[in-house]
Amino acid sequence: MKALPLQSHGIAASRLAIGCMGFGGSWDASEPYTAAHMKQLEEAVDAALSIGINFFDHADIYTRGKAEAMFGELLAARPSLREQLIIQSKCGIQLADGELPGRYNFSKQHIVASVDGILQRLGIDYLDILLLHRPDPLMEPEEVAEAIHTLKASGKVRHFGVSNMHSAHLQLLQAAVSEPFIVNQLHMSLAHRHFIDQGLLINRNEGSAVSFDPGLMAYMQMNNIQAQAWGPLAQGRYTGAAASDTTEAEQLAAQYIAYLARLKETSKEAILLGWLMKHPARIQPVLGTTNAARILACQDAERQAELMTRDEWWTLYATASGTHNPGIKSV
Ligand SMILES: NC(=O)c1ccc[n+]([C@@H]2O[C@H](COP(=O)([O-])OP(=O)(O)OC[C@H]3O[C@@H](n4cnc5c(N)ncnc54)[C@H](OP(=O)(O)O)[C@@H]3O)[C@@H](O)[C@H]2O)c1
Repeated sequence: MKALPLQSHGIAASRLAIGCMGFGGSWDASEPYTAAHMKQLEEAVDAALSIGINFFDHADIYTRGKAEAMFGELLAARPSLREQLIIQSKCGIQLADGELPGRYNFSKQHIVASVDGILQRLGIDYLDILLLHRPDPLMEPEEVAEAIHTLKASGKVRHFGVSNMHSAHLQLLQAAVSEPFIVNQLHMSLAHRHFIDQGLLINRNEGSAVSFDPGLMAYMQMNNIQAQAWGPLAQGRYTGAAASDTTEAEQLAAQYIAYLARLKETSKEAILLGWLMKHPARIQPVLGTTNAARILACQDAERQAELMTRDEWWTLYATASGTHNPGIKSV
């Protein structure tokens, strides 16, 4: 089995990651999380560990800090967990508050202070990986470099990466920063196929509506940067979540996924994720589910990626794209 790019940077990361955006209850800071939220988190963490998932993705903004604070409470109750886990968080987004709009901030002061807040909420001494969450149009690469140097030298962050960035953003920052950027977290799934479409539709009119840096996947592969996929379960659109705006293409793709799951005696989640993980960039899906049973349902995803034939991969892609009907009549 080929190693993940993360593993070649000395990080013993699992093939799947757990995204922690859904933990902590509401995004209203005045509503505290409850014992029920804590139970949900602990069950999810234990389900993940039981199938070898050791990688947890946070951001300082998730449920306005509550997701990290809850996670910190769990780590405090079970201190031996810390060394079993790879903990990643992000900073650089400031949510709208009062009269100020949502905005991005890659100033040194903001990055360094954000990490202090993250470590304090999580109750830990260091982050394994810090991602810069979304590109700040006002970013000064030298200032970002200073922030990264300070965090690395203090031991507060071991590795660095980015999220939602072009290859040009990565190159601009990397030219100033001596630490390698080893992750780029992007929206990628069967429902959000720009990362595939951009390469396929090159030089075609249909490609004009596609929003993805054409060179990005190749750039990450060439530079050993881990592609992480946010939104990999497509909010359950193909695996059973009720959605009032489901399209015919989504219904057909869901039927084909259910058919493959029956055929291969696995879960629908494993087929859906297998499609994403078959990509040669060795994409690491960041699962957004807060449900322990759904985490367990993802266990077989890597094996399904290996078993998925090229014909099945293309049938799933074309069906989800609305250009093909696989002719599956019943689920
Ligand atoms: N870098 C970025 O800009 C960025 C942006 C967004 C998210 N993220 C990260 O990526 C992670 C995943 O993102 P995501 O939450 O958008 O992705 P996701 O994994 O595609 O979706 C998870 C959501 O779908 C629901 N779901 C999945 N299957 C379902 C089913 N069969 N029936 C009903 N509901 C179902 C889950 O509900 P249950 O909890 O009930 O299972 C959960 O609310 C986040 O946690 C976060 O760590 C990063």
